[in-house]
Amino acid sequence: MSKVLRRPAEFRQACEDARAAQRRVGLVPTMGALHRGHFSLIDEARAHADFIVVTIFVNPFQFAPEEDLERYPRTFESDLAGCHERGVDLVFAPEPNAMYPTGFQTEVSVKELGKPLEGGFRPLHFDGVTTVVTKLFNLTGRCTALFGRKDYQQWKILSRMALDLDMPIELVGCPIIREADGLALSSRNRYLSTSERQRALGIVSGLRDAFDAWQHGERDPDALRSLAEESVRPAFDHVDYVTAADPETLGASPPSPRRLLIAVAAQLGSTRLIDNVVLGEDPRP
Ligand code: PAF
Repeated sequence: MSKVLRRPAEFRQACEDARAAQRRVGLVPTMGALHRGHFSLIDEARAHADFIVVTIFVNPFQFAPEEDLERYPRTFESDLAGCHERGVDLVFAPEPNAMYPTGFQTEVSVKELGKPLEGGFRPLHFDGVTTVVTKLFNLTGRCTALFGRKDYQQWKILSRMALDLDMPIELVGCPIIREADGLALSSRNRYLSTSERQRALGIVSGLRDAFDAWQHGERDPDALRSLAEESVRPAFDHVDYVTAADPETLGASPPSPRRLLIAVAAQLGSTRLIDNVVLGEDPRP
C-alpha cells in the first residue's frame, strides 16, 4: 500500500528524505474522491518525477458557507486503493486542525487573476485555494506539481503565485479528461441524477459549437461566446457565466485572437459544473 502520513512535519521530512536520496518529487494535490482525471495527473507525474506524492485534503477554506463542504464526497479507502494501484509512493491526508491549528490567520491572495470568471461568483474561493496550496508547496519543497486544466483559472492563479513568490515548484497543467460523450470528469458529477447527467451535455455541445466555428474561421470572441451560450442556457437551471477571455490574463480578449478561452459555469439542481476549452490550442471537447 502507498504510505499514508497525516502529520505535516512527517510529510515534510518524507519529501526531504526522498530528495536526499536523489529522487525527484512529483506532487498531485487533490481533495480526494479520485477519478480518472486525478489518475491522469498521477500518470503524468511519472514523466517528471520518481517519488509520487498525492495529497488528499478537503480544504474548508475554499468553500463558502452555502457551498457543499459537508456533502463533498469523501472516499478515502477507494482513493487509497487507486493510489496504490498506480504506484503512488506517499499519500498525505492531514486533518483540518493539523493544517489550520488554533490561531491560524494568514492568507495568500493572487489579486487580478482571481477576480474574473469564478471570482465573480465565489469571491473567497481562490484565497482558500492559494493559501492551502502554499502550505502544501512549503511542506513538499522543490517538486513538480500537477493540476488539471478543468480548473483552468486555478491553474493560472497557482502558476502566477509560484512565480511571484519564488517558489521552487514547476507547475504542469494537464489536459481535461472527458467521458466518451464529452462530459468533463469531476468529483461533483456523482451528484447528478440520470436526467441531469444528460442535460449536463449542454456544456459539451456549447464548447463543441464554439470549437467547430473556430475551426471554420470564426474569430469574433463574442460570436464564439454566444454560440456556446446557446446550448448551455436551455439545458441548465442556472448559468453563472459563459465567457470568452484571453487565456493568459483571463480578461477581455482582443479582437481576432490567436487563442481564446471559452469558460462555462452552470448549475443543475444543486450541482455546479465548470468546463472550458482553449480555442486554437485544445482538441475538440
Ligand atoms: O483542485 C482541487 O482539488 C483543489 O482546489 C486543490 C488544488 C487540491 C486545493 O485544495
